[in-house]
Order: sequence, then structure tokens, then C-alpha cells
Amino acid sequence: MRLAYGGREVLHGISFDIRRHEIFGIIGPAQSGKTSLLSCFNRTIDFHPHVTVSGSIRLDGQDIRRVADVHGLRRRIGMVTPLPVGLPLSIYENVAFAPRAAGLRTRAELDAIVERCLRQAALWDEVKDRLRSLGTALSGGQQQRLTIARALSHQPEVLCLDEFSIAIDPVTTMRIEDVLKELKREITIVLVTNLVQQARRLADRTMFLLKGEIVELGSTEVIFSDRPAERRTFEYVRGIFG
Ligand SMILES: Nc1ncnc2c1ncn2[C@@H]1O[C@H](COP(=O)(O)OP(=O)(O)O)[C@@H](O)[C@H]1O
Ligand SMILES: [Mg+2]
Repeated sequence: MRLAYGGREVLHGISFDIRRHEIFGIIGPAQSGKTSLLSCFNRTIDFHPHVTVSGSIRLDGQDIRRVADVHGLRRRIGMVTPLPVGLPLSIYENVAFAPRAAGLRTRAELDAIVERCLRQAALWDEVKDRLRSLGTALSGGQQQRLTIARALSHQPEVLCLDEFSIAIDPVTTMRIEDVLKELKREITIVLVTNLVQQARRLADRTMFLLKGEIVELGSTEVIFSDRPAERRTFEYVRGIFG
């Protein structure tokens, strides 16, 4: 697929596949096109007025770009963005919002979903006694986990995370990383990270994107070894540039 803003192409004909139940890492310096790529997956790219996307992006064989039910697509492909966008709602309502909108009504069912998602996001123990307070009153790291809980409340098949740890401390980051390792048993995870070591810790396969092109895609072990296929990969993961 290709993507251009106005006449300026920023993804230059890239082609790859993501496998079910893997953590697929995407690394690359700022401006490589990582966020643009992710926003094609859940069609938030549609919000940009002068974008042209060509080629195809398929989810289970179906072209995402032709999906009529975009809301349904966004339930299937959850997105966690770098700076948490806490809805002005209670912690409970942040997570119950989507299931309620999908028609779930009984208190017991909602309670169960809220607890499950908050547990999956490693936030439950910290908030279980104050589920009615505002989500926006939580710390940055807690809000980031709330965003993850909210994304999980849609029961997505694919969870995309875009530099999720940018605003949180290393301890919280590690807790979320543990969560992601657990979650991949149930869902597929696309992890965009500017922290190459995070991809090394988590990803099954890693793709190195640079200036809108795939430099290399392979098992994380090979990408981070002494001998990846491309010299630029070696230099980037070792911090020689970028
Ligand atoms: N809304 C936009 N309008 C025009 N250009 C954009 C827009 N968003 C991103 N770009 C450009 O696309 C390129 C890739 O950006 P981005 O996808 O944000 O990369 P990354 O997430 O790797 O930093 C950059 O050159 C950036 O300036
Ligand atoms: Mg980005």
C-alpha cells in the first residue's frame, strides 16, 4: 500500500503481513510513517482531508478500506494512542461505555466486563475502591492503562499500540508489557514503539520502517542479532543513528 498527504508520499509501496496471535513490533525513527500506517488499520486516516491511500489492507481477507461499517471495524481493531485521551467520565463508565453502547444493560454483566478489562490492563487493584471517580483524575500511567482497558472493552481482535509508554514511568511500562504478553494468547498485537528495546522484549517479529519504506522485517531475534540482513537495521537498533 501507499499513502500520501496532499501530493507528498510518506508510505512508499509497502507490503507485509501480520500473523494471528503475534506481537508485531514496528520500529523506526520519528517521521517514518508509523502512526500514518496504524491509522489506516482503524480508518482514522479517513479524518484527514487530503490523504490518498492506494493498494489494499486486509483483515481476514476483507479489504479494510472498503468496509462499510467503520464503527464495527474500530471495535475489531482497537487503538491505544500515545497520550491518553481520557473521556470526562468515571473510571467505571470509561470502560462500560462501549459495552453499554453495544446494548449490554444488566449491572452484573457490565460489572464483570469492567473488572475483567481493568484487570487485563493491570489497573484493577489501584482503582477498585474508587470506580466512580473521574478517569481524568488518575495519574498519567494509570490513564494510559485506562485507555488500554477501554480498548479491551470492545473485545478487539487486534490491538494496536502507538508509543504507549511515552508518558509513563518504566515500572508502569513493565507492568503493561507483562499485560501484553498475556493478551497475545487471545488477540493480535501491533506494537509501534520508539523504544527499540521494547520491541526486543516483546515482539515476535519486528519491522523496521524508515522514511516510509520497510528496511527489514523478520524475527525479533534476527533483527536484534549481530547479523540482521541489512546494515541499517544493525546501526539503528544499536543506536548508531536515529
Ligand atoms: N496529517 C498530516 N498531514 C500532512 N503530513 C502528515 C500528517 N501526518 C503525518 N504527516 C507526515 O507524514 C510523515 C510520517 O509521519 P508519521 O506517520 O507521524 O510518522 P511516525 O509516527 O513514524 O513519526 C511525516 O513526514 C509527517 O510530517
Ligand atoms: Mg508516530
